[in-house]
Amino acid sequence: MTKVLIATDKPFAPVAVNGIREIVEAQGYELVLLEKYTSQDELIAAVADVDAMIIRSDKATKEVIEAAKKLKVIVRAGAGFDNIDLAACTAHNVVAMNTPGQNSNAVAELAFGMMVYMARNFFNGKSGSELKGKKIGIHAYGNVGQNVGRIARGFGMEVYAFDPFMTDEQIKAAGATPLHSAEEMYGMCQYISLHIPATEQTKKSINYDLLKNMPKGAVLVNTARKEVIDEEGLGKLMEERADFHYITDIAPDCDCFNKFEGRFFATPKKMGAQTEEANVNAGLAAARQIVNFIEKGDEKFRVNK
Ligand code: 3PG
Repeated sequence: MTKVLIATDKPFAPVAVNGIREIVEAQGYELVLLEKYTSQDELIAAVADVDAMIIRSDKATKEVIEAAKKLKVIVRAGAGFDNIDLAACTAHNVVAMNTPGQNSNAVAELAFGMMVYMARNFFNGKSGSELKGKKIGIHAYGNVGQNVGRIARGFGMEVYAFDPFMTDEQIKAAGATPLHSAEEMYGMCQYISLHIPATEQTKKSINYDLLKNMPKGAVLVNTARKEVIDEEGLGKLMEERADFHYITDIAPDCDCFNKFEGRFFATPKKMGAQTEEANVNAGLAAARQIVNFIEKGDEKFRVNK
């Protein structure tokens, strides 16, 4: 019998697990669940006899892929697939997919939750500031970025975007003013919201030189990946500039930002996509993609070549 594993260190909402189960069992497959596991060894043991698996930010390393002797397809229920060893998948004839767009509204809403929380002094009651009228620069204008743009317009912000993979017309059609370099955008926007993936090109690319030109009262909002930040450079800048703020859904590895009281905030565990709606959207999409691949060979959303 075809076995589908859900391996989630950070579990989906039960309603999403139930929905995935329905899709999988309607097909006559068996669903196996591994949640809140505490070591990679547990994951490695769980993949031994599965044909397909659904993960979130779980690390599908070479060791995991090699241990999954029957694995044909792995779906990252979400956007970023930097947690999957794509070369190992390709080497072992495993199709890797993501579910783009399915959790993007949840991430965008959290970005605004954090912005308001920061602008209102962590709800301590002291006089804060408003988002209306402020310039926001959206770094990468894909699914999450465009949701951030939509919400920003509702707040009455001036919305700018930089995305080297989109034309000016596409960016304008999606409601933002296109800019043509990160330098230009960081130089003029008080708020910057990051939506770039973690790749060899982007790692540590949000650095001192780029950030230092942000206007007074700068707020860097990170709901993307911690790897894109040059933490050393950002820390140095925050030492130098008492007006610089960093709010993130991906806590830095070091606790060296905690000293920037009132200017730094990190969620305890990455939670941008942690809503029932996003879990249902991404989880069920993942289950359907698995069925479509196994039954019809449908490779739409494949991310490894
Ligand atoms: C994504 O890439 O889809 C988001 O970062 C969400 O990740 P998560 O599923 O680990 O919450």
